[in-house]
Amino acid sequence: MDIVSRVRRHGLRNRICDAATAAAMIDDGMHVGTSGFTPCGYPKAVPLALAERVRQGQNIRLTLGTGASVGLELDETWAELDMIARRYPYQTGKHINRRINRGDTLFMDIHLSQVAQQLRYGYLGPMDICIVEAVCILENGGIVPSTAVGNAPVYVQQARKVVVEINTTQPLALMGMHDIYLPENPPSRLPLPLTECNQRIGASYIPCDPEKIVAIVPCDLPDRVRDLAPMDDSARAIAGHLIRFFEKEFGTTLPPLQSGVGALANAVMAGIEESPFRALNIWSEVLQDAVLDLIDAGRINAASGTSLSPSPRGLIRFHSDIGTYREKIVLRPQEISNHPEIARRLGLVSMNTAIEVDIYGNANSTHVLGNTMVNGIGGSGDFSRSAALVVMMTPSLAKNGTVSCVVPHVSHVDHTEHEIHILVTEQGLADLRGLDPREKAPRIIENCAHPDFRPLLWDYLQRARQKVGGHIPMLLDEAYAWHVRFLQSGSMRP
Ligand code: COA
Repeated sequence: MDIVSRVRRHGLRNRICDAATAAAMIDDGMHVGTSGFTPCGYPKAVPLALAERVRQGQNIRLTLGTGASVGLELDETWAELDMIARRYPYQTGKHINRRINRGDTLFMDIHLSQVAQQLRYGYLGPMDICIVEAVCILENGGIVPSTAVGNAPVYVQQARKVVVEINTTQPLALMGMHDIYLPENPPSRLPLPLTECNQRIGASYIPCDPEKIVAIVPCDLPDRVRDLAPMDDSARAIAGHLIRFFEKEFGTTLPPLQSGVGALANAVMAGIEESPFRALNIWSEVLQDAVLDLIDAGRINAASGTSLSPSPRGLIRFHSDIGTYREKIVLRPQEISNHPEIARRLGLVSMNTAIEVDIYGNANSTHVLGNTMVNGIGGSGDFSRSAALVVMMTPSLAKNGTVSCVVPHVSHVDHTEHEIHILVTEQGLADLRGLDPREKAPRIIENCAHPDFRPLLWDYLQRARQKVGGHIPMLLDEAYAWHVRFLQSGSMRP
């Protein structure tokens, strides 16, 4: 695999080496940062080579920071071998999830927009080495990332040493899609000079002092992109409620949209494709297949994100016509894609998914039964605190109908009643804007809860009103009674 031509700074060509040589530079106890955001743009060859050292009997446990979740070669392989002592800021995967919930791996669940500044402020400790997947290295030492930008720019800036994995499955035509802007720390920080989704405010590469690049490794393993979960009736119904609401609220011109990841988010974006909205602007974190569909349909003005995470079929489509997609798509550091300043300025509509919500409009996106971590808060908090219209979605039931996702009180709070404007389940939509909590509760019960659980919720609410009253009537001794019932009997149904 010839990567020499992709290393355009001639003086760096003598640092081309194999993955095992680069992996030998990583020692037990180090703090490692990598590129990658969803199973896209993450390094593969060096993590696998490092795992091989552990299989050979070496003891290596690390602190690992990424953009968000990453592919199997990194998180899952390292977690299976118990190589991750500390992890931030987001993850998905069976092994890493099990390690975190067992306590083998300590997990810092950080708002994605805040990782870069927490690293620069020193909250996360010094970073020893970063590994960045790239399509090429420029004459000035600049690194052109691949399908995800994530936290790679700040890791390159802050790490003592940089390893670059040049992935030859990533086309050179990705060059020009990225816009890399690194804010200064206060008090030198300036307003972000961005007022439009397609605006470019930085460089098309990650600036890097060439002296920091200690190894350049070839890699020919493709991103392990995943198929999207099939759209079920519940997702279709949630999308339908939301699209009808948007039509009433906005007519044919939507504000810029932020959409979470997964089947529900993709269903909503697919619903938008069948709606009358035109000249859409997407300001989001992850761009999935629906964005490619909308570009093909000529409906997108601009799509900005930090990661391009299509399905396997979507990736083939993207590769076959990068020139067209590149006209519309900009990939930025997650510090910018998720920045509260931009979300507020652009007046975003944010749409994210919760595990459960309560009758006053608090949402839990991270911890099942209050204690078991699912994935992490991701970017949901970045957007829900700052968007102009904040939508939270969830099916009304989970676990084969034994669990109500609308409960008296959520077992963990990620998003509060202060910031959520719209709750949607397949049952309907509750518009909570301008309401007192005592007005919100009946609306959420009637519009969003499953009919089987509505009488129980009404009973709780009425007793709470009579017994304690107050601004948010709540029975402290019963707030988690439904969760306790589920733990004891396997069902929230009495
Ligand atoms: N009570 C108990 N368990 C529940 C539950 C509830 N109310 N709701 C869901 N679950 C369980 C599911 O059964 C599933 O467990 P399993 O894998 O053991 O079957 C798990 O929680 C995940 O649920 P699922 O329906 O598969 O989730 P999803 O793929 O639709 O994702 C979130 C939902 C909330 C986990 C996901 O959107 C997320 O991680 N959000 C936070 C980050 C975020 O919003 N990112 C985008 C921001 S830009």
